[in-house]
Amino acid sequence: MAIRKIREIGDPCLKKKCREVETFDEKLHTLLDDMQETLLLANGVGLAAPQVGILRRVVVIDLGEDEGMLELINPVITHTEGSVTDTEGCLSVPGKAGTVTRPQKATVKAFDRFGDEFEFTGEDLYARCICHECDHLDGTLYVEKASEVFELEQNEE
Ligand code: NI
Repeated sequence: MAIRKIREIGDPCLKKKCREVETFDEKLHTLLDDMQETLLLANGVGLAAPQVGILRRVVVIDLGEDEGMLELINPVITHTEGSVTDTEGCLSVPGKAGTVTRPQKATVKAFDRFGDEFEFTGEDLYARCICHECDHLDGTLYVEKASEVFELEQNEE
């Protein structure tokens, strides 16, 4: 496993629409392993492949100690419910956070690293994260959707 460099706002990779994964091979597994390690080190909740410069539809989300890492390949949001306005941030937009309205619940259809299809429903933080990460795959950053973006205090970073 290896730590990958997280691209920051202004990097053209973050503006691109990513292509679907077609081959569930060793190269994909290495990418997923590296993304997990990079996400853990950065203390984030989710990471999308374009954030490490790979223009493929791949996402990892840290569901916490009990649930572990969720890997979403070619994710498609199939159902959303409710609406919550809250604060979110992004590893590609360091030192900032913003107010974004997202669904309270989001169901996503995706493939695992072996090419098997599954469904996952996230609520609250995880619904927000699913939507945020899927936006990355289409070249959208939360700052484009936020009603306000603000600087974080130094000690909150
Ligand atoms: Ni992000």
